[in-house]
Amino acid sequence: MTDVQRSDPWPIRTSRLEIRRCTPEDLDALWEFRKIPEVNRWLGVAPATRAAFRERYLDPDRLAATFVIELLPTSDTERTVIGDLMVRIEDAWAQLEVAGDAKGVQAELGWALGPAFAGRGYATEAVKAAIDVCFGPLGLRRVHAGCFADNEPSWRLMERLGMRREEFSRKTALHRSGEWLDGMDYALLAEEWPAAR
Ligand SMILES: CC(C)(COP(=O)(O)OP(=O)(O)OC[C@H]1O[C@@H](n2cnc3c(N)ncnc32)[C@H](O)[C@@H]1OP(=O)(O)O)[C@@H](O)C(=O)NCCC(=O)NCCS
Repeated sequence: MTDVQRSDPWPIRTSRLEIRRCTPEDLDALWEFRKIPEVNRWLGVAPATRAAFRERYLDPDRLAATFVIELLPTSDTERTVIGDLMVRIEDAWAQLEVAGDAKGVQAELGWALGPAFAGRGYATEAVKAAIDVCFGPLGLRRVHAGCFADNEPSWRLMERLGMRREEFSRKTALHRSGEWLDGMDYALLAEEWPAAR
């Protein structure tokens, strides 16, 4: 399936959340939790300022792969941005002769939640819904995500969703602290998802 053939499945709703495409107007709300050291400790980048964060996420490819997680309003609470997801569609590795068939067939996933909203299953709910989109309307064959091995909340989330640990690598990832740390990669194939979910 090409990008042109895919119709846009976003936004999506779960029982508690809406997950929608990120717009430039959302970036300030994302910055409110992305600037917190506890949140960006394990993330690939920790921009020092709001302006640097905005500049990075205004990149059209990055913005297109970014989704806002919003808590739906209730009688007591307002609609609130609580986190973000990355769903970056990419090519799979392939031998040259068949590389055309491996284009846009998988996605790298990522996630971040404001600490005030942790521990209530929101991230799990959002990522589960995103995987449903990947294997449903987007027709992808595989999703994967990586994390530092020390990022236990992140790998616990992946294991909660039934993602398979495919790699544990020793001291392969350089943390901004200057330390080489262990890394982990998790993945899930479309045919594994019905059983996992
Ligand atoms: C990774 C991250 C999103 C996980 O957040 P989280 O709050 O642990 O995940 P969830 O929102 O899914 O909540 C799950 C927790 O809530 C509990 N929970 C409560 N109600 C729940 C429900 N209805 N459904 C599922 N879990 C529920 C679970 O038991 C779990 O707690 P546990 O890990 O102590 O067992 C968060 O730690 C984060 O944003 N970290 C910073 C950014 C980051 O590191 N991103 C990943 C880079 S690789």
